[in-house]
Amino acid sequence: MIELAASVLSADFAELGNQLREVFDAGVSKVHVDVMDGQFVPNLSMGPEVLRAVRSVAKTAGATVAVHLMIVQPERFLKEFVDAGAERLIVHVENAPLLARTLSHILELGAQASVAINPATPLVMLEQVLDQVSSVLVMSVDPGFGGQRFNPTILDKIARLRSLLEQRKLAHVKIAVDGGVNTDTIRAVARAGADCAIVGSGIFNSHGSVSQNVAALRRAASVP
Ligand code: DX5
Ligand code: ZN
Repeated sequence: MIELAASVLSADFAELGNQLREVFDAGVSKVHVDVMDGQFVPNLSMGPEVLRAVRSVAKTAGATVAVHLMIVQPERFLKEFVDAGAERLIVHVENAPLLARTLSHILELGAQASVAINPATPLVMLEQVLDQVSSVLVMSVDPGFGGQRFNPTILDKIARLRSLLEQRKLAHVKIAVDGGVNTDTIRAVARAGADCAIVGSGIFNSHGSVSQNVAALRRAASVP
């Protein structure tokens, strides 16, 4: 069964603690925090202080927090985000010219390292760093906003990444998919071979309560 991670970007920030507790009560134990700087992506979101608050709620529930850095020169802020509670830092191949060094630095700080790749970026861009990461975040939208439409061209990319990881004897590296994953698209994502789906509006902004939305996603993902 594909694992779910909740992207807090679509949560009701006035109710963030309660919304997170609902997510954890529904059995989702991974949180995804999107950090945007208005430069790498055309939007601003949250920074280390919000992360600290998310982390404190997550910790009591035994959940883990990953931070998706959509900022230029992400190397400037790695330590700040690890100190604020990030267990995993995700950096983009598109904006990290010293990607190998950045990933090494994340590992030295004691966090897990992941690399994210936009829909239009070919897999060859991350081949050289696959042995430094424990997961790859395949973007299924151009990053910057929640609630965008899923780009189906990435399904083939997931399958090709899966075979590349096998060829390279890196089968332990997980594949996560981020953007536009909802009850209509999650089955295709799971079938293509992804291990984890990052879901924002499909959890916080859909028809039902958080727990109903999580249950609906799980049902949709497991349809044979
Ligand atoms: C998009 C972010 C996503 C976003 C997903 O730039 O990286 O994590 O929150 O939101 P949905 O699930 O609404 O597409
Ligand atoms: Zn994200």
